[in-house]
Order: sequence, then structure tokens, then C-alpha cells
Amino acid sequence: MKLQHATWPEVEAYLKDSQGIVIPIGSTEQHGPTGLIGTDAICPETIAEGLSDQGILVGPTLSIGMAQHHLAFPGTITLRPTTLMAVIHDVITSLKGHGFKKFMFLNGHGGNINTTETAFAQIWAEHSLAREPSGLAMKLFNWFHGPRVRRLIDELYGEADGWHATPSEIALTWHAYPDQMRQVPLDPDQAPFGEIRDCFDYRQRFADGRIGSRPQMATLDHGRQFYEAGVADALEAWSQLVAAD
Ligand code: NI
Repeated sequence: MKLQHATWPEVEAYLKDSQGIVIPIGSTEQHGPTGLIGTDAICPETIAEGLSDQGILVGPTLSIGMAQHHLAFPGTITLRPTTLMAVIHDVITSLKGHGFKKFMFLNGHGGNINTTETAFAQIWAEHSLAREPSGLAMKLFNWFHGPRVRRLIDELYGEADGWHATPSEIALTWHAYPDQMRQVPLDPDQAPFGEIRDCFDYRQRFADGRIGSRPQMATLDHGRQFYEAGVADALEAWSQLVAAD
């Protein structure tokens, strides 16, 4: 069930049985010469489709994340960490007012992790300082860290999955949008690893935008496998959140 495709009476009825919602969160940023700018939003949104098919309510994808380090490449859009925290805060507060209590942020971008966790801590801190129980359970689930997905990455790519513009995420976008597959020669074959600082430093270290990855290894069939593994991992994470008090 998708929030965007529901009516308010349907949401009201859903809330009588469940107070949980999944919010896909991603980014709009360069993904090397072959990866789509929307990769990090497309991946969690695609996996969320599988959760929605199981009757879980899925909110609108937060498609713009914290991607300052990619700004030296055309097309990237970023929010400051403080802006993203404010967005997460207001999304959760809006839904909390309707009776939602369990939130799983299904994330597709490593650069969102610290900011999202801090946004959760900020909400809990406000309630703790005011001595008002929040009654909220908030969980960040990174699809690329799920156990089945990690096993598949190790099996298919090993270290060549790298850190950015990875064959795993690119394969998953191909599964979602098979008419958007791209392959061009890449040099070096596997990109270098290194630290992430500001966007100028990033472009100097990682000339074509990739970090440590060899996205040429992606195939459409891998994309299907990542979809299935990703949905199974996310369902497991959701069940744990819902089962917990
Ligand atoms: Ni990515």
C-alpha cells in the first residue's frame, strides 16, 4: 500500500491495524559515467515496492539527501545535514500526529546515515528533555547492508563492489528501469578507494565519480537477484521493528 495512492479514509482504516510506515530515503547525485543520478533514491523505492505489495504502508520517497561531496559533478543536488534533519523531523512529526509510531527509513545512500540517525536522536532528545514519552520507534535500514544483499555482493563482486557507483546498486536500477542501462569504457577498470571530504577534493581524487567500484560487472539478472534479496532483508528488518514493543 502506497501513501501516495491512498485516500485519507484508507489511511485512517490502516491505522486501526498498524501504526507502522516505511519511508524510502535516497539522494540525487552523480553515480559515475554509467550510473543514474537517481540511483540512491531508485534503489530503496524499488525495494519498497516489494514491501508495499505485502500490505505495508510506504510513504513518499525522500529523493534528495546529504550529497555535498558530489556537488562538483553536474546534476547533483544536496541538502545540508541540518536541512535534511529538519525534513526528517517534520515528516515524522506530521505522521506521528496521525497516530503512526513505528518508522522504518529504507535508505539508499551512505551519506544519509549519520544525518538520519542524528535526526532520530534529536527527536528522542526533545521528548526526553521535556519528560514526555514519545512512544516512537525509529529505525534506519540501509538496503545495501542487509545480510542477503551483502552475501550476494561478496559472491558476485567481492571488493570490486567498491563504495560508490557500485555494480550492486546499478544492477538494481537496471531491474527497475531496464530501458536505462548504460555501458561505456571506464578507466581505470576499478576506481580507487579513499577518504571523502568536500566536493572539490572528491573530484580530484575520484575523477569519474566512482569510488573503488567496477560497475561494468552489473547485469540485468544481478538486478533481479538484488531486488529479491533486498525485499527479503527489508521485510525481516520491518518484522523486527513491528514485533518489538
Ligand atoms: Ni549510491
